[in-house]
Amino acid sequence: MLATIAEVDGGGAVMILDQNRLPHETAFVRLNTLSDAAHAIRVMQVRGAPLIGATAAYGVALGLAEGQSLDLILATLAATRPTAVNLHWALARMERVLEKSALAGRQQLAWEEARAIAREDAAANAAIGQHGLPLLQAIAARQGKINVMTHCNAGWLATVAHGTALAPIYAAHNAGLTVHVWVSETRPRNQGLLTAWELAQAGVPHTLIVDNAAGLLLIQSKVDCVIVGADRIAANGDTANKVGTYLKALAARAHGVPFHVAAPVSTIDFACPDGAHIPIEERDPAELGASSAGMGTAIANPAFDVTPAGLIAGIITERGIIPSYQLATVKP
Ligand code: MRU
Repeated sequence: MLATIAEVDGGGAVMILDQNRLPHETAFVRLNTLSDAAHAIRVMQVRGAPLIGATAAYGVALGLAEGQSLDLILATLAATRPTAVNLHWALARMERVLEKSALAGRQQLAWEEARAIAREDAAANAAIGQHGLPLLQAIAARQGKINVMTHCNAGWLATVAHGTALAPIYAAHNAGLTVHVWVSETRPRNQGLLTAWELAQAGVPHTLIVDNAAGLLLIQSKVDCVIVGADRIAANGDTANKVGTYLKALAARAHGVPFHVAAPVSTIDFACPDGAHIPIEERDPAELGASSAGMGTAIANPAFDVTPAGLIAGIITERGIIPSYQLATVKP
């Protein structure tokens, strides 16, 4: 496993794995400034809710090292992407810690807190893997082979380490279970290719499908469970994830297949009452490709959708599997 994000030069800069060049090329980008960090998040060189949060935390440290004001740093990073709440969670945590400190100590404190956020994300995801593992062990005990469907990329690439939705899959594979993953392409940005790349590297059997093949595979009983990541979970359990997730949840429900969300507690937005209040990122129409250019056709490109809590069997967190209707009992 490569590092998605790491400090270099003893803490003066940050190196990220450029996800826009994967899976065809493995390249790293050095972030030296606040604007480098904001750019990396905005153009999706880093992506996935937990990794966006960790990058934002390091972005605060980079901004302070440049002598920028904390207000400007927080506003710049907060404006990069709207849906993944881990971004705002990380910024709020940095602000809380830094505000308590005298100006002179802030730079060092910012690096320390960013390191802590990164370290805790890796640990949380490892725990998600262990908490999700019994779900897959139960399927294996019943029938041997496990077929999991996922959407987008919620593997180690989307986090500091281990991944969220893929963490239980890696845990099952490492425990010697026979697990196969249906990976949906995830139009228009094709994050499914990143998932396929990760799984191939780890030797986990998988099959890439077009997004719209999911219903067919479900009705053919070729899927035992669906596990996806999350970008923001509202207090009532409604969950925003990459657009197309909701359709998978509906199809899974129609065929009696359990649908789980895997995410760290930092992805729960306790201040957001329900899915209707989750901001949905609208991305550049150009992402849909050039085929409609010049036709006078309007293009909408919402990047996320919201799966109602009632369709979610459970949320696999670092604290265990929480039924979505019990989220109110979780402490932030
Ligand atoms: O737009 P992206 O690629 O940042 O969206 C990522 C997803 O939707 C992931 O499935 C989600 O962030 C889960 S991250 C572990």
